[in-house]
Amino acid sequence: LVGVLTIPVAVHVIYNSSIPQENISDAQIQSQITVLNRDYSKTNTDITKVPSAFASVASNMQFQFRLASIDRKASAMTSWGTSDAMKKTSYGGVAPISPTTTLNIWICNIGGGVLGYAQFPGGAAATDGVVIGPKYFGSSSIASGYYGAPFDKGRTATHEIGHWLNLRHIWGDASCGNDLVADTPTQSTSNFGCPAFPRKTCGNTTSGDMFMNYMDYTDDLCMFMFSEGQKTRSRAIFSPGGPRASFAP
Ligand code: ARG
Ligand code: ZN
Ligand code: CA
Repeated sequence: LVGVLTIPVAVHVIYNSSIPQENISDAQIQSQITVLNRDYSKTNTDITKVPSAFASVASNMQFQFRLASIDRKASAMTSWGTSDAMKKTSYGGVAPISPTTTLNIWICNIGGGVLGYAQFPGGAAATDGVVIGPKYFGSSSIASGYYGAPFDKGRTATHEIGHWLNLRHIWGDASCGNDLVADTPTQSTSNFGCPAFPRKTCGNTTSGDMFMNYMDYTDDLCMFMFSEGQKTRSRAIFSPGGPRASFAP
């Protein structure tokens, strides 16, 4: 993959009829596309907050996102869970549009305190894409709407699309685990809130955890970078024979 890859996005809004705010506005949806295009091109304004120890590995991922379609559906469901029911008409959900060439995003309340979840590359096309709760989609700094601070700046989609692009959690989902990226320091576990730099764990005594990485669990205002290693790993899936080669030109 050479240069910038633009990924078309289909957004499916599934809202509870009794909670009309879940039917988020076009402006709130567009604000999310704006955040994604900033975060994935290293033009987010908070990139300046990256500690100097990590500045040399902060990456321009060279992905852009183009809103291709929005559809909306009223439902009696209150919480959709994480078993992909929202992606299936047989369960009252909405099937993906052209999932081998389009990133599908379902906006619906997941429940259980889950902000969003994603399917990694290599899974079934019928369930491919990401799911995000309506309060965690878009940015309250760009468009008014229905939001849940401190997850109101659009970084849940940045994080979930990171998974869709093959990125693991930065702590490797284990104690001092491995995220298969060399330039993200091994860290003990997920971080929450807004930690103070440096936070040293797992013997990463030089600069500590890269807790400001989008693939940690910190607050939206406290995550603002991908690394060069994450860029290499994510872009590899678009190579010929790779699991998302059908998205590449
Ligand atoms: N899958 C994670 C969750 O539901 C998403 C975390 C996103 N973090 C954020 N700062 N927006 O908990
Ligand atoms: Zn995650
Ligand atoms: Ca690592």
